[in-house]
Amino acid sequence: MAMKTLTLNGSTVEFEPGQTILEVARAHGVHIPTLCYLDGCTATGACRICVVEVKGARSLVASCSTPAEGGMDICTDSERVRQSRRLTIELLLASGNHNCITCEMSGDCTLQDLAYSYGVDTIRFPNTPQPHAKEDMNPFIIRDFSRCILCSRCVQSCQEVQVNRAISNGYRGPTAKIIAGCDQRYDQSDCVFCGQCVQACPVGALIEKKGRFQGRAKDVDKVRTTCPYCGVGCQLWLHVKDGRIVKVTGVEDGAPNKGRLCVKGRFGYDFIYSDERNKTPLIKENGEFREASWEEALDLVANKFREIIEKHGSDAVAGVSCARSLNEDSYQMQKLFRAVFKTNNIDHCART
Ligand code: FES
Repeated sequence: MAMKTLTLNGSTVEFEPGQTILEVARAHGVHIPTLCYLDGCTATGACRICVVEVKGARSLVASCSTPAEGGMDICTDSERVRQSRRLTIELLLASGNHNCITCEMSGDCTLQDLAYSYGVDTIRFPNTPQPHAKEDMNPFIIRDFSRCILCSRCVQSCQEVQVNRAISNGYRGPTAKIIAGCDQRYDQSDCVFCGQCVQACPVGALIEKKGRFQGRAKDVDKVRTTCPYCGVGCQLWLHVKDGRIVKVTGVEDGAPNKGRLCVKGRFGYDFIYSDERNKTPLIKENGEFREASWEEALDLVANKFREIIEKHGSDAVAGVSCARSLNEDSYQMQKLFRAVFKTNNIDHCART
C-alpha cells in the first residue's frame, strides 16, 4: 500500500495507512507516554495519557486509538498536551490509595514514573476512596482495587493475549471495577491463574501473593531461563534476590511464549526449595522406599527390562517419554526402545 505523509513535531514523516498516531510516532523514535495501551491488543483509549494535539482538531486525541491520516499536523509534547497529562495523573492519584511506601510495584510502576516525570507533587482534588474490598482468597493473586486505575490492561491480557475471557469491566461510575465472571472471586470464576493479568498491571493492583514483601524491582536481579515444566520452552525472567527466586515473569519479546505463561510456569517455581524433593533414586522394597545409588537403580531397571523381554517378548514393554525432556533425550529414548529393546512401543506424553 502506498505510504502517506504527515507532520510530526514539525518534521514530515511517512507512514503506512492503518497505523495509529502512536505507531507512527514510535516508528520515528518519538516517545509518547502510555498507560492503558497493551502492545498487540486492541487499543481501549481508557486512560488518555497518550493524548496529542492535532492541528485543527477541537480537542486532544488519544494517539493509541486514533488512526493517522495523511496531512495531519501533530504535536506530541505541547504545553497543552503536558497540562492534560498532568491533570490525568492527578485525577488517577486522587482516586483510591496510591501510597507507594509498601506497594510491591514501587520502582516498577508506570503511574509512579509518570507522576515523577510530569512533576505531579500536589493533587488539587479530594481523595475518592475506592469502595471494593481487597481480594485475597486464592493462593496466587491479590487484587487490591484501591490501587486499580481501571486501565483494563488486565482485561485485554485475559481476553486478547491468553484468550481466557475470565475477567471484564463491571459496574459504572465510582463503583466501576474489574470483575471476574459475574463479579465472583478469582478462585470461584473461570480464571485459570495464568497470571497474565498480574504481568499486564502497570500499577500495584494485581500482585503475586507469594512474592509479596520478598523484593521489589530495585532489589532483584533478572535472570533469563527456559521453563522446566514442559517441552514448549517458554522463556522466563527469574526475579532473584539474595540467590533466591522471588517471582517469575514471561519474557515479552521472546519466542515461543511472547510473555505468556501458564499457572505452573509463573507460580510453580518454589518446588526447587521443597524439602520433599528427591535427591537420590529410591527403590521400593517390602512396600517402603529406600535411598539407592544411581548405579544400583539403573542396574535394577535394566535387569527388570531384560527379564520381561526374555519372558514375554519385546512388545511386552513400552515407553512414554516425558514432556520435560529435551528433544535429544526423547530421541535417545526412542532409539533405546527401537534399537535395543526391538519394539516400536514408544510415545511421548505431549503428543496427545
Ligand atoms: Fe492511549 Fe491510555 S495509552 S488512552
